[in-house]
Amino acid sequence: MKATGPKTFFACSGCGSVFARWMGRCPDCGAWDSLTEEKGAARPGRSAGSGSRKKSVPEVVLLSAVPTGAMTVIPSGIGEFDTVLGGGAVPGSTVLVGGEPGIGKSTLLLQVAGRMAQRGVASLYVSGEESAAQIKLRAERIGIRADFGVLTAVDVSGIVAAAEAAKPRILILDSIQTTFDPQLQSSPGTVSQVRECAAAMSEWARRNSAVAFLIGHVTKDGFIAGPKVLEHLVDAVLQFEGDRRQWIRILRCLKNRYGSTHEIGLFEMREEGLREVVDPSGLFVTGGGVKRPGAAVAVAIEGRRPLLLEIQSLVGDGSGGHPQRVVSGLDPKRIAILIAVLQNIAGVQLAGRDVYSSITGGYMTDEPAIDLASAIAIGSAALNKPVDPHTIFLGEIGLAGEVRAVPQLSRRLIEAEKTGFKAAVVPAIDARDLRYGGELDLHPVAGISEALEYL
Ligand code: TYD
Ligand code: MG
Repeated sequence: MKATGPKTFFACSGCGSVFARWMGRCPDCGAWDSLTEEKGAARPGRSAGSGSRKKSVPEVVLLSAVPTGAMTVIPSGIGEFDTVLGGGAVPGSTVLVGGEPGIGKSTLLLQVAGRMAQRGVASLYVSGEESAAQIKLRAERIGIRADFGVLTAVDVSGIVAAAEAAKPRILILDSIQTTFDPQLQSSPGTVSQVRECAAAMSEWARRNSAVAFLIGHVTKDGFIAGPKVLEHLVDAVLQFEGDRRQWIRILRCLKNRYGSTHEIGLFEMREEGLREVVDPSGLFVTGGGVKRPGAAVAVAIEGRRPLLLEIQSLVGDGSGGHPQRVVSGLDPKRIAILIAVLQNIAGVQLAGRDVYSSITGGYMTDEPAIDLASAIAIGSAALNKPVDPHTIFLGEIGLAGEVRAVPQLSRRLIEAEKTGFKAAVVPAIDARDLRYGGELDLHPVAGISEALEYL
């Protein structure tokens, strides 16, 4: 690498050219007053990179000469985790793992480090949140036997230096909010700190064909102080979610430069750490075959996987003022539309009444195919008529109250049947040329009013 420039340099905000002294006009691009003073000592690698840009000509390679082997992924062996990443971690990439405090991010990534190490992939777990003794205690509790490097540090340059020396293929940084660059004036967790530290880590990953997993805390309201800023800086963004008081955890992919973002991973938080849920049939369904008002089951499709979801509703008489409309796990706008359709087209009295709707298990989805189940749950609660616990409801609902087609209907029906359901209320439009040879009794409906007759 070329020798680094002076400790302080001036960079043009227009063209990025770097100069040793300040000038009123950039000699390269002609912009006026565009040079700002920057400190060059923070990361010699990078300032040398930008400084030497004009001196060395970058090398062009032919597409055919690009080795494809470089994209071989590194699987952790935790199937649910690998699937969400599209098969495994891509060497040279940076993955942000976000989630609320206490949801299980540290546990998940500690298990990933353990499994990677077990498979012979050198791993380094860097923590600014817990002491090495605490990490060891947790690793013992969740039965991690493989050995890997542990570092408790918060200074990003120290972390990078330690990683350069230890040469792991997988580095976990817990968390991006506790890491900081002392060269910057701002305190840890601020936008500039978080951005700078993430840039340093992803540069390390790229340079070493390693993978950096950055853990980031997300707060319930507003997004992450930081990680939202990071989304375009990293190659993949995973989100770990679920209801903290319950044990189901969902790993979702919000961005993936190297694969699809449709797959989800399912885990259970146990005493002994996170356990994969390979067959989630009935995971989100609580009914237990009891006939009761206000709950209806649908089958959503998440990536390659059908998933039974139970939608629950409660309708109260309200106190005369503004009615409460509280929605969790579902899209509040969809629920508002369904309430209007139920009221205006099916004649269900909801005006002025409180409506609460949620999905069990802390799941979140905005799949239109669950509209019918959401509407049935609300209608059933409002009319105080129980829903048959052995019937599932599938269909999107339009503004005119029509029940619209649902993609992959037969896959959903097969899943419901497998889980013990006996009947399905389905869109009439799909029923005509449906190729489903299963045992479920099918009840085709064209509109919401017709569907309510099954209560
Ligand atoms: P943690 O991984 O520390 O969450 P995060 O890093 O996202 O803040 O774990 C959160 C909670 O999970 C913790 O409060 C206790 C619980 N837990 C278990 O139930 N079983 C376990 O084996 C572990 C390690 C944690
Ligand atoms: Mg943690």
